Amino acid sequence: MTVPAVPRASRRAGAGTLSAVGRFYVTTPIYYVNDAPHVGHAYATVNADAMARWHRLAGDEVFFLTGTDEHGAKVAEAAEEHGVTPQEWADRVVRRFQDAWTVLDISNDDFIRTSEPRHRVTVQELLGRIHDNGYIRLDTYRGLYCVSCEDYYTEDQLVDGKCPVHGRPVVEMEEDNYFFELSKFEDRLLAWYDEHPEAVQPVTKRNEALAFIKGGLKDISITRTSLSWGVPVPWDAGHVFYVWYDALVNYLTGIGYGVDEARWTGWWPHVHHLIGKEILRFHCVWWPAMCMAAGIDPPKEVHVHGWLLVGGQKLSKTLVRDADGPVRLTEIAPQALTEDFGVDATRYHLLRDVPLGSDGEFTYEGMVTRYNADLANNLGNLLARVATVVGSKCGGTGPAPDPGSPLRAAAEEAVAGAVAAWERWAPHEALAHTWSLIGAANAELEANEPWKKDPGPEVDRVLGSALEALRIVALLVTPAMPRTATEIWRRIGLDGSPEERRVPADVAWGGYPGGVPVEKGAPLFPRRKD
Ligand code: MSP
Repeated sequence: MTVPAVPRASRRAGAGTLSAVGRFYVTTPIYYVNDAPHVGHAYATVNADAMARWHRLAGDEVFFLTGTDEHGAKVAEAAEEHGVTPQEWADRVVRRFQDAWTVLDISNDDFIRTSEPRHRVTVQELLGRIHDNGYIRLDTYRGLYCVSCEDYYTEDQLVDGKCPVHGRPVVEMEEDNYFFELSKFEDRLLAWYDEHPEAVQPVTKRNEALAFIKGGLKDISITRTSLSWGVPVPWDAGHVFYVWYDALVNYLTGIGYGVDEARWTGWWPHVHHLIGKEILRFHCVWWPAMCMAAGIDPPKEVHVHGWLLVGGQKLSKTLVRDADGPVRLTEIAPQALTEDFGVDATRYHLLRDVPLGSDGEFTYEGMVTRYNADLANNLGNLLARVATVVGSKCGGTGPAPDPGSPLRAAAEEAVAGAVAAWERWAPHEALAHTWSLIGAANAELEANEPWKKDPGPEVDRVLGSALEALRIVALLVTPAMPRTATEIWRRIGLDGSPEERRVPADVAWGGYPGGVPVEKGAPLFPRRKD
């Protein structure tokens, strides 16, 4: 497939030059419905959401897809344990994911469930194409299977005879399976990665994918007869596709592959998958090979993130009521954090604390410390101080910014740093750059102490510039903390919402109009004592 790419926005040429709209298609992995959503899932989804929101703010046309992976032995087992059908079980658990994403202000444009009829259509279309192209053959498969991984292992991959990931016993399986001839794609995959160095990020993960391919690829079994909970194989009744094969195709279902040619060809060249590190092999080896076998380009970019890990005992006491013994990350519901810290503080922590690509320790104490330092003391304090002094010295009307303010350079630097960081999928750095402007604005207020001075042009200049810094900060934090951004915008007297603005066009110094009412309001992030 050769589809001409819609040009990227020309925003990189500088402010005010948004002439063409780019496209950005971002996906999360689809989550298994065998269990409830936890903070690890929230980490991935909030990061994808922030990237989607960043691209909307930058003027791109965005399609953001998330959803649930509902087929396979793992879900069938969970349903059986609860005495319901797999569909009933999926219908029950999917709501928990949808509720969690609503609470976290996730702005997905679509939610794909793999048990939906539209997914069956796309899977059968894509795999039918691969079959017609001669890359699928029938054979007998014997192996050791871990139901939790939905994957086979060889004897020497086991640890004490058990699954190396879950420590669960594996089962011996023998099936007549259809095989995808992955072995035929070694050279093509290496050539693709050679020509597209950005296709897997970060580079350490690209190297992992390359090492895997260079280690030699075996054909893989893609159907099951031992299970009926799956997408039926169109050319052989009695077989269903192996859950991973059906799952990966969700990225094409969401854009209408097999149904709406113009739609899917318009989005596919702009796809960016965000995935966790343990599913790299599926996304960076199998999936691109499947795409090639079907005659379409592999995904443009796969971004691989690490894991959130959990330590501290305090976490268990505070976040999981009635916890018995140490708590695992998978037991922390995203809502436990949003109820305790608020939605935006939770989003901020997930984006700011663990750089995409690395593993990171998640602790309750760390979250409190960062909340107090960054949100209560820095951002919240800046807004409260400025609004208070505008009230006492300017009669509650915000003055215009000073074109020669020393904050101007700090703002320009923060904008350039944040824009570049969002562009390279580094939300934690984008936020660090944004906070450098907050720090500079607080320091400028300290240096001038407008609260000690008589009302007049000097006080107006200092406060107008602090308000301008807040306006720019509101725009830059929009992808991470949309509610906070809107609230700052409103309190400093601006019309509309920051989401309607464009970055960098609207972050040039001097955009705060002055002469508008500034409201003090309650603290945005009250300091925590725990
Ligand atoms: N259903 C498959 C994905 C299919 S995509 C075509 C799956 N589901 S999952 O629910 O087990 O995991 C989904 C994602 O959540 C993975 O990318 C995984 O890395 C991520 N996380 C699960 N626990 C996590 C942490 N503790 N930390 C960060 N992300 C984690 O795999």
